[in-house]
Amino acid sequence: MTNLATRYLGLDLASPIVASAGPLTGDPSAVLALVRAGAGAIVMPSLFEEEILDEELNFNWALESGADQFSEALSYFPNVPELSTPGDRYLARLAEIKALVDVPVIASLNADSSGGWVRYAGLLADAGADALELNLYAIAANPDIEAADVERSMLDIVSAVRAAVAVPLAVKLSPYYSAMANFARRVANAGADGLVLFNRFYQPDIDLEQLEVVPRVELSSPWELRLPLRWIAILRPLLSSATSLAATSGVHTGLDVVKAIAVGADVATMTSALLRHGPAHIGEAEAELRQWLDDHEYTSVGQLRGSMNSANIDDPSRFERSNYVKLLHSWAGSPAVR
Ligand SMILES: Cc1cc2nc3c(=O)[nH]c(=O)nc-3n(C[C@H](O)[C@H](O)[C@H](O)COP(=O)(O)O)c2cc1C
Repeated sequence: MTNLATRYLGLDLASPIVASAGPLTGDPSAVLALVRAGAGAIVMPSLFEEEILDEELNFNWALESGADQFSEALSYFPNVPELSTPGDRYLARLAEIKALVDVPVIASLNADSSGGWVRYAGLLADAGADALELNLYAIAANPDIEAADVERSMLDIVSAVRAAVAVPLAVKLSPYYSAMANFARRVANAGADGLVLFNRFYQPDIDLEQLEVVPRVELSSPWELRLPLRWIAILRPLLSSATSLAATSGVHTGLDVVKAIAVGADVATMTSALLRHGPAHIGEAEAELRQWLDDHEYTSVGQLRGSMNSANIDDPSRFERSNYVKLLHSWAGSPAVR
């Protein structure tokens, strides 16, 4: 039987197919279905920095209100149920999911500044998270802030979370850093045990009738896998073998999982395909992965991993440029003629 076992963030996974952060992974019954279908690990949806900061403000307000009243007026203290906040609910959901399944459960924090909310990293670890995924999601729209400052503030977040927890830490990155290879290495040096490549940015649309900006979540398409494939291939030989790599964006089938592993990913993660086809899709992707490995006489995913990374390419930047030129010259269709 082909061995699908992999190691990710120092954790042993029975399969490299992971359910990434999304609506299904926050719902205990869907998580159970994902694990039954063969998910190697679960990444819960993100707890957002803004939610935590609001909660801390409300908490302080609740404690301070009534502070100048008579101390025996115990009714001034807020009721515990009133304090049930997004953070509390997340911790409770994490504990519930942990009790249900025996695969690693990774909690996700979404941040764009370092600050007091970092204590949540410790609370998530205490509630049983096997690892944390830090989702760095920020749009650098301030023209006074230079690229180096943007990178520095991201690295500060990674270091702050690293200092707060002992559990493994993955960092989910956007593809929009100008010196990705350098930044990826610095994120690893700041304490990340793994990189998740890449975050998808949700671009709002415009409603032309209402003249309003409307948020639209589009599920991904398989071609979106090419960006993570390229960067995982480039980064795998540049990073220490102790740094895990996860592919996210455009993993829809077992063959996509094969590609991600071939360029050097330790796991391939899915959200859109699972939302489209349901949790059982993990089982179909796994069967396709097994079939491909058998057909090509691989006995394990370990044997395939990294066989197509860029370790044998002297200068990946030059290689990418020459491929770009070749690609543009390869267009065989006839030009559209009016
Ligand atoms: C509806 C929806 C909700 C998501 N929520 C989160 C989230 O809370 N945190 C996060 O890091 N990523 C979130 N994602 C991003 C996914 O984890 C994943 O990285 C992205 O969708 C690309 O993978 P895919 O092509 O398999 O969908 C969400 C995606 C979707 C479609």
